[in-house]
Amino acid sequence: MQALIKQNVDLPDGRTYPVLVGDGAAAELASVMPEGPRRAAIVTQAEIGVEVDPGIEHRVFTVPSGEKAKRLSVVEDLASQFATWGLTRHDVVVAVGGGVVTDLGGFVAASYHRGIKVVHVATSLLAQIDAAIGGKCGVNLPEGKNLVGAFWQPSAVVCDTATLATLPPAEFRSGMGELAKYHFLGGGQLDQLPLPERVAACVKIKADVVAADEREGGRRAILNYGHTLGHALETATADKTGEYGIRHGEGVAVGVVYAGLVANALGRIDDERLAEHRRVVAAYDLDATIPDNLATSDLVSLFSRDKKAVDGITFVLDGPNGVETVLVDDEELLADCIERMR
Ligand code: GLY
Repeated sequence: MQALIKQNVDLPDGRTYPVLVGDGAAAELASVMPEGPRRAAIVTQAEIGVEVDPGIEHRVFTVPSGEKAKRLSVVEDLASQFATWGLTRHDVVVAVGGGVVTDLGGFVAASYHRGIKVVHVATSLLAQIDAAIGGKCGVNLPEGKNLVGAFWQPSAVVCDTATLATLPPAEFRSGMGELAKYHFLGGGQLDQLPLPERVAACVKIKADVVAADEREGGRRAILNYGHTLGHALETATADKTGEYGIRHGEGVAVGVVYAGLVANALGRIDDERLAEHRRVVAAYDLDATIPDNLATSDLVSLFSRDKKAVDGITFVLDGPNGVETVLVDDEELLADCIERMR
């Protein structure tokens, strides 16, 4: 087995936690478990199929498949089952799965007994390079994605890159959308690296941003590059059960190209930099078109419902100073850029 890569997310006030990356990292879970808990509630989905041993007494709680697990009724179900089992505030949740599970598991940990420890075992590319790192967690409402949530830092994160080999291809491609995002956040050479190093490099970029702005007072918003349109596409394609018609990373990939178009239309980046956005997304074999059945006006109105919107439509855009948040008040320009992606 290749050596695992261990790095820390260093937060203000001396808080820190390890992120263990590499093939076979899940087998080392017990070595990064926090000291103190006697019991671990393992939250996972049937389709994940990754068994873990936290080294203490544990029980597995299986939540519904897919994105529809990320809803308040599932938080209630889990909390009731934890209480029935006798999980105390000194115990720990271990979330084993992709971004759905780490978001849900983090949120139930943040709220059960007003907050208990959580460890993430991230099994999808998307969770390993984004969702499991940095403490954001939450659930969706029919009105939008992640509208109820918390900042709740894990005690440790394990990213077992061997689990990526068994991901459904569409799920892996979805993670590639988040990888594309990191190209514009300082990860220019990412595509040159082997997978474990690539995951570790993204973790490092994210850890540095989170360390500087844990609760998204400012700079952390750059991690939402491509997400304003991405979230709108997810919400606009949701069915009655809460399942989205587009995967998160696929939406982010479309959103990255859209952000490039908007930045170009605002004169913030030149045509060459816009072409780079298209090139990076295409290199990951991701599509950058907006389906014709999604009305432009609906997408634009979803932008302003997105939780990042403060006093207008706040976008994360590339520009002369790199990626930063920009208030865009020209809805016609936003609509026009959508039309250019049909
Ligand atoms: N996924 C964006 C963030 O963690 O801030």
